[in-house]
Amino acid sequence: MNAYDSLADSYDLFGMDSFTTKMVDYSETILRRRRSRVRSVLDLACGTGSAAIEFARRGYDCTGLDVSEGMLKIARRKARAAGQPMRFLHCDMTSFKLSQQVDMITCFFDSVNHVIEKDEIRQTFKCVHDALKPGGFFIFDINTLRALRCWAGFTTVRETGAVYSIWQGSFDNSRQLAAIRMTFFRRQRDGSYLRSSTEIPERGFKLNEWTAMLRSAGFGRPEASKCFSFEKPDRTTHRVCFVCRRQ
Ligand SMILES: C[S@@+](CC[C@H](N)C(=O)[O-])C[C@H]1O[C@@H](n2cnc3c(N)ncnc32)[C@H](O)[C@@H]1O
Repeated sequence: MNAYDSLADSYDLFGMDSFTTKMVDYSETILRRRRSRVRSVLDLACGTGSAAIEFARRGYDCTGLDVSEGMLKIARRKARAAGQPMRFLHCDMTSFKLSQQVDMITCFFDSVNHVIEKDEIRQTFKCVHDALKPGGFFIFDINTLRALRCWAGFTTVRETGAVYSIWQGSFDNSRQLAAIRMTFFRRQRDGSYLRSSTEIPERGFKLNEWTAMLRSAGFGRPEASKCFSFEKPDRTTHRVCFVCRRQ
């Protein structure tokens, strides 16, 4: 079972979908500033489909892709309810191939940090490069090492509807590997609680390492900025957005 399968039915209840909708606005601003228009979009690691459905609602021909069948089930249900007949692909982003290249690929909410090994990240970027038309855009955000270090010792308790959950963070400095362990207590019809847990790891890298991995996949001049702005990232930045273009 994928780590996100057990989180899927609570994901939107935790309010995680609002970030991704903001990323759709931000991507459109990026495109407007470059006077570029795109029509076809692939949203990688689309999760419960919030961004992909929003792109479709705004007139883009959008496809979502995710490795978690649980997240995709919710995404398909939401797309049907929103009246957006769109495609969702059950696939691993480290090894995907599209039958038709697209104008833009997005990957939001630090989903790229979920790929742990450098070789697999390079493979992901290579797949993205090959799936883009010449001139196509790749826009994604990452958690910086500074952000991931804050996961050490982080604990929070959340209660949403029938789900009570405890989130505990950790950070392994030697591997630059952060993780959130989530323990859920789901209220059952008879009033008892069913306990389950999942752990989500994220890997951090220095910005020049991200840039080197993008370059090795063929993205000549990746541009990094503080997410939701157009300022250069600095040592205090927690989230960075990369904009890359296929030559
Ligand atoms: C933090 S969620 C973000 C979901 C969505 N992009 C959003 O903004 O709400 C991370 C997503 O990445 C997906 N994911 C993680 N590793 C993946 C992989 N190797 N291939 C495809 N999807 C992956 C998970 O299943 C999950 O849906």
